[in-house]
Amino acid sequence: MTSTDAELFGNRFATHEVPTREFPADGMTAQDAFRLVSEDLALEGDPARNLATFVTTWMEPEAQRIIAGNLHRNFIDHAEYPRTAEIEQRCIRMLADLFHAPGRTTGARTQGSSEAIMLGGLSLKWNWRKRRGGSPAATPNLVFGGDVHVVWEKFCRYFDVEPRIVPLRPGKYTIGPEDVEPHIDENTIGVAAVLGTTFTGHKDDIAGINALLLRIKSERGLDVPLHVDAASGGFVWPFLYPDSAWDFRLEQVRSINVSGHKFGLVYPGIGWLIFRETADLADELVFQENYLGKTDSTFTLNFSTGSAMVLAQYYNLVRYGRAGYAYIMKNMQANARVLSEKLAAMGRFELIGPDDEQLPLVAFRLAADNGYDEFDIAWQLSAERGWMVPAYTLPPNAQHVTIMRALVKETMSREHVDTLARDIEEACATLAKKGGAHESERTRMLLGPGH
Ligand SMILES: Cc1ncc(COP(=O)(O)O)c(C=O)c1O
Repeated sequence: MTSTDAELFGNRFATHEVPTREFPADGMTAQDAFRLVSEDLALEGDPARNLATFVTTWMEPEAQRIIAGNLHRNFIDHAEYPRTAEIEQRCIRMLADLFHAPGRTTGARTQGSSEAIMLGGLSLKWNWRKRRGGSPAATPNLVFGGDVHVVWEKFCRYFDVEPRIVPLRPGKYTIGPEDVEPHIDENTIGVAAVLGTTFTGHKDDIAGINALLLRIKSERGLDVPLHVDAASGGFVWPFLYPDSAWDFRLEQVRSINVSGHKFGLVYPGIGWLIFRETADLADELVFQENYLGKTDSTFTLNFSTGSAMVLAQYYNLVRYGRAGYAYIMKNMQANARVLSEKLAAMGRFELIGPDDEQLPLVAFRLAADNGYDEFDIAWQLSAERGWMVPAYTLPPNAQHVTIMRALVKETMSREHVDTLARDIEEACATLAKKGGAHESERTRMLLGPGH
């Protein structure tokens, strides 16, 4: 192919290696660049069959238009884009209302729950300092269960807080007040409890932990705040289990994080941190700056970031309202139940807590040794049908328990559920014939519990 041919017909990378290491000396046409990137991505997995992720893989065309039309707006430029800043505040107020905040409050838009948790944890740390009078010499500690997302351990390591982790046990995959009580002392900055765990989709006994913290406050005078990690559950519980109190209805719950990009149904890049009252946000963490046109206060780890996902979140809140979110969540739950029933009917799986309050997902494991295991099934499903259904071991001390988990999201129709169930059955039949996957196949199957 001559360079003239390439200019004429495009895509010179049809037969050339693509740039991967050196900063390219010359550029290429927009058409070539577009095709190069698109062809690389054609090899990606299909998001509709990615049942590992909690994160949104579909939005309405109108929401996509809002996103596409606002990619050029830097969210932090509040002076230039005051409407976007106002829309962020509307979202914070609406979420505070959804979570039953008792009055005026505050919060922040974040990149996801991880940033919200870092900020929430920092506020717990600063407020503890204040409670202890200045800068105490003691090491602060944070109490949480082994069922938390890795971000909680990250927070502790990044910000010098001792993690006091309640281990899980086979058969017990969430924590309650009896687990937390022995770990609390005057240097406890807070307790973190999960609404909708990454591993099995259940909730910690948040009401029980709240009752414990109230008792400790009245008996020992220690006012230990409770932060709820509602990354996934914050947009599920209010609609599927509205009478289940886990939020600001409980007195010690002082802050909540939620991922807009999970069951908030927005594409990746949006999370929220909501405080019970304005006083729960430590003042020292709010910075004033005036170099973008007017004095503004910021409480974030990042500075520049996109506006599009904030606007997309507001679009969803007004588009769906409580009724719409409830309708979507109930559909997902109904399909998750069908999948559970189909798996139970196969007679070889044990379901993990299907009758308890749970995210719309199915967590399951093999009930007996069949000559193959959950990792083999995950591999077979991915190789045969392109389904991404992760297998993973649980955290200590339940590390010998392997489970699989299938998210049942908005795009997972009843037809998809029926097909997935048949494909799982067929994957098991194939594995039974060949006696498990080969080691080389299994090591290629590196899916974790997702996020
Ligand atoms: C319970 C929980 N907390 C925190 C996170 C981190 O959230 P993000 O991916 O929004 O940063 C996740 C992600 O799956 C999660 O499930």
